[in-house]
Amino acid sequence: MFNLRNRSFLKEIDFSREELAYLLRLSASLKTAKYNGTEEQRLRGRNIALIFEKTSTRTRCAFEVAAHDQGAHVTYLDPTGSQMGHKESTADTAQVLGRMFDAIEYRGSGQEHVEELAEYAGVPVYNGLTNEWHPTQMLADFLTMQEQSGKDAADIAYAYVGDGRFNMGRSLLITGAILGADVRLITPAELRPPQDVIDQAHELAKASGARITISEDVAAVKGVDFVHTDVWVSMGEPKEVWAERAKLLAPYQVNAELLRATENPRVKFMHCLPAFHDTKTVVGAQIAEATGMTDGLEVTNEVFQSPASVVFDQAENRLHTIKAVLVATLA
Ligand code: CP
Ligand code: NVA
Repeated sequence: MFNLRNRSFLKEIDFSREELAYLLRLSASLKTAKYNGTEEQRLRGRNIALIFEKTSTRTRCAFEVAAHDQGAHVTYLDPTGSQMGHKESTADTAQVLGRMFDAIEYRGSGQEHVEELAEYAGVPVYNGLTNEWHPTQMLADFLTMQEQSGKDAADIAYAYVGDGRFNMGRSLLITGAILGADVRLITPAELRPPQDVIDQAHELAKASGARITISEDVAAVKGVDFVHTDVWVSMGEPKEVWAERAKLLAPYQVNAELLRATENPRVKFMHCLPAFHDTKTVVGAQIAEATGMTDGLEVTNEVFQSPASVVFDQAENRLHTIKAVLVATLA
């Protein structure tokens, strides 16, 4: 039996292995119910605040559609649309919103802000991405990997190739460690996660049986079921770092050669998105011009568009998994 009622989801370790597995099962059953037209609304009359101090497509839309599907209402506060941060402290904002809403989603920079919000709000708070962690993304990534491979989380081998210091690298390391997976974090020495995060992964692996590899060598992708990557420069980082970062991470680009190095003809490619895989966006075009990398940055357009790419299944699963978090904590 699981009772996640009124629980916040601020980082992956807030939930045990069993609780994360339960959320994945609930996500799958909510997905089936939506497809079959048999979804039951269990959040009627609930109000959820969505605070976004950084921009979003997937996370915002997933929270909104999940809430609407379940009969709840949302209020969206955009990156400039509230007093929080500039005219009102996080603690004061939390106490105000906690009196009006049943739950709060927060996307921002430092993890300390979402932690403080949860401390004062008195209602569940969900981390919709901070610099440090992206926990709701992890549920979508594991649901996608389980669906695509037919394996349990503990039997899946995956690599994350790219910037290891930021949310996606850290979250994929820790979540795999909790769930007992074979995790390969492949990143240059300069971009390794902080040592306490690496130590925590090894500690979690002792209990879960996870296999943890931290390597600078892309050859460590050998034998994996999935290759993940993320943007090389994250939201909130200055654009001046692009040139240096691209030089550092160019050998870690996910391209056809890297997928071949897995020696797994059925390997799948994953990315939380948005991705710089072509020059069809303003920012993508600017970076391509500045770096001279015209065939994609963290991933080539060839890999992104290939049958190995499951990025849009992964994006859709943001909806079903975020819905599971709402139902489990609020229904
Ligand atoms: N993957 C993800 O969090 O996407 P958004 O930034 O569009 O929400
Ligand atoms: N690392 C990226 C993830 C975007 C979903 C960022 O923080 O910008």
